[in-house]
Amino acid sequence: MTPRSFLLSPELAGYVRASSDPVDPVMAELIRETAEMAERGEASSTMQIAPEQGVLMRLLTRALGARRAIEIGTFTGFSALCIAEGLPEDGSLLCLDRSEEWTAVARRYWERAGVADRIELRLGDALATLRGLPAEETFDLAFVDADKTGYPAYVEELHPRLTGNGVVLLDNTLRSGRVLDPEDESDRALAGLNAALAADPRWETVLLPLADGLTLLRKR
Ligand SMILES: C[S@@+](CC[C@H](N)C(=O)[O-])C[C@H]1O[C@@H](n2cnc3c(N)ncnc32)[C@H](O)[C@@H]1O
Repeated sequence: MTPRSFLLSPELAGYVRASSDPVDPVMAELIRETAEMAERGEASSTMQIAPEQGVLMRLLTRALGARRAIEIGTFTGFSALCIAEGLPEDGSLLCLDRSEEWTAVARRYWERAGVADRIELRLGDALATLRGLPAEETFDLAFVDADKTGYPAYVEELHPRLTGNGVVLLDNTLRSGRVLDPEDESDRALAGLNAALAADPRWETVLLPLADGLTLLRKR
């Protein structure tokens, strides 16, 4: 499997994975099916988070004791599966995506993994869905992995919805290193957001050089 981190050689990426918990068999099959979809030109397997990021997110979900989580950008469902497996049985994950086709794959694997009853999927524009949620709907954990130019708005919308020790995870915050020299709108959006978050006293912020960059935000 190709490393998702531009910072690691294939050998080191393999070592990182071998030194972390493995993904479980249902997750491994989902990774395989997504790669096959990519080979047929039906998806891009690089949209899926790296396995080592998935096992970190499952660990974090458990360690935070998160009960209510939200994901913005679900695709074929791997990251959602990792979060859902970290939730307690009565926990819940709200997934937002606009692709019926990709999330149909996700639904199959959530069923197979026995976590479908913890996950609610809402199709449509994620920002509109988020803005339409009742004000009292709050989250212990949020994962953002959709359109990169939308991240600043997602972060703003999530701030008042986070519970006391709530954490937001932002994916792709290094953009394969292009945040240093942005080449497109998405790179510029992330470079601008990284700078704004580092200076924002409302958030405690850490950018981890894991996979393509994973930023952790805790509401102060
Ligand atoms: C990078 S993929 C998510 C990958 C997923 N987290 C995983 O690990 O498999 C981005 C997803 O965001 C969705 N998306 C992009 N822009 C969106 C928007 N404005 N509203 C809803 N979904 C959006 C796409 O349909 C796609 O499935």
